[in-house]
Amino acid sequence: MTDRPITTTDAGIPAPSDEFSLSVGPNGPLLLQDHYLIQKMAAFNRERVPERVVHAKGGGAYGVLRITEDVSRYTKAKLFQKGQETGLFLRFSTVAGERGSADTVRDPRGFAIKFYTEDGNYDIVGNNTPIFFIRDPSKFSDFIHSQKRRADTHTRDHNMQWDFWTLSPESAHQVAFLMTDRGTPRSWRHMHGFGSHTFLWYNAAGEKFWVKYHFKTEQGIENFTDADARALVAEDPDFHLRDLQTAIRNGDHPAWKVNIQIMPFEDAADYRFNPFDLTKVWPHSDYPEITIGRFVLNRNPENYFAEVEQASFEPANLVPGVGPSPDKMLQGRLFSYPDAHRYRIGPNYLQLPVNTPKVPVHSYNVDGHMRYRNPGDPVYAPNSVNGPAADPSLYEGENYQVTGEIIRSAYVRHREDDDYVQPRALWENVLSDVDRDHMVSNIVGHASAPEVTADMKKRVVDYWTNIHKDLGQRVAQGLGVA
Ligand code: NDP
Ligand code: HEM
Repeated sequence: MTDRPITTTDAGIPAPSDEFSLSVGPNGPLLLQDHYLIQKMAAFNRERVPERVVHAKGGGAYGVLRITEDVSRYTKAKLFQKGQETGLFLRFSTVAGERGSADTVRDPRGFAIKFYTEDGNYDIVGNNTPIFFIRDPSKFSDFIHSQKRRADTHTRDHNMQWDFWTLSPESAHQVAFLMTDRGTPRSWRHMHGFGSHTFLWYNAAGEKFWVKYHFKTEQGIENFTDADARALVAEDPDFHLRDLQTAIRNGDHPAWKVNIQIMPFEDAADYRFNPFDLTKVWPHSDYPEITIGRFVLNRNPENYFAEVEQASFEPANLVPGVGPSPDKMLQGRLFSYPDAHRYRIGPNYLQLPVNTPKVPVHSYNVDGHMRYRNPGDPVYAPNSVNGPAADPSLYEGENYQVTGEIIRSAYVRHREDDDYVQPRALWENVLSDVDRDHMVSNIVGHASAPEVTADMKKRVVDYWTNIHKDLGQRVAQGLGVA
């Protein structure tokens, strides 16, 4: 006997063999009574849950958020009070590729954080960019279809991508980011994260503010050139996953500053940009960033499937002191994520260890597939037997007036709303000469794929000319468009 554990079936019964199925004589046939063989084959056939419809490839780690500044005048959310420490799980991802796809492709990166707060889970499900491609959730599935695979050939298709982008001018700001070298970050540790949307904060006195979150990497921004990123696709498709795990294992714990921009509630109505439009940032000259704390990632998950593949983030997980804004994209996402989890993981996904809150759950929801923990009696409210009772006072301050006609429409334009003004500021004022050279060659490389038609190339040139004529000219030159 060795001190190795004995193999068992999933029911804990000692397994009869690690290699031989039960047969009639050494040469078979096999017997139906070999329940262990049947269990192995059946379990194998059921190993996969559906991958995420977007953001399928990723990796994550646990960490802790520490708040160093007093922001109680803006929010009463417990996790944001000075001195507070809150455990968290963060998952990074690419967007368009499948679960086994390469990490270093040009794509935005997901930056999804679950804070295990005293008031239950608070999820900020953001990206490494402060903006997005579209501003109405009704276009999301169309946008994603254009970035993934064709129906006929199952190939990715740059012509289809540019078709969608050039017909959706609101995408210009995000596509501009994507085509800089920030579209190919060196690692997940070397990029910022953003809550991207505007959220509502309210304090104990019921005063309201609009807030944006910026998570600034303390490792510094580092990017791959297009050529280096492409080379790594072949060399190590799991480069970012491996990088994060190795750094944490070696005690090199990555950290991000937590910065916010705060807009007084009343400013929103006539701010020069629509502050809820996800294709726009709030310029720092109007609303400077304020550092309120930092978080560190310090522990790798022990089981990828249990803790990363089944991690389930939802923008609807907001705690008292934080609320949604009228951003239409955010409103759409409030529904979309829990719906995805119920389909992909199952209705009781919140009972899995990575998803479950670190506070007692006193809901009146019961039963369903794979539930192992039910509340006790009573199972209904109202009740007269001292069951859990809601405390609406926790949400005092979240209320505000909205009126209007029921309508399908674009946002009402604010004074300086325009799809090109902010990407133009990026090109003119923020990018260095080298950044600009790389952006042009990244665009030209992308739009030079063999499937991109001559007509589409002209549309690509027009798209970039709208942002800046120099940019348009340089793209035209690169693509050979007159
Ligand atoms: P600022 O000059 O105050 O801010 C520019 C921002 O751009 C900084 O956050 C900077 O910080 C970031 N940045 C620097 N290099 C790049 C790059 N190569 N790619 C993307 N971002 C970069 O100007 P404004 O706030 O008026 O914004 C001007 C433009 O900058 C915007 O139109 C937008 O395109 C871009 N931007 C603005 C942000 C905002 O929240 N205001 C955030 C990010 C970008 P860092 O290098 O640390 O990222
Ligand atoms: C993942 C929908 C916009 C960031 C997902 C998933 C869906 C989805 C269905 C898969 C969820 C899962 O199976 O776990 C939508 C819709 C959007 C939208 C309908 C717009 C209306 C955005 C925006 C951002 C974003 C604007 C960032 C600012 C993410 C991230 C993930 C994700 C980071 C991966 C989360 C994880 O790591 O598990 N999205 N999305 N999405 N989305 Fe969105």
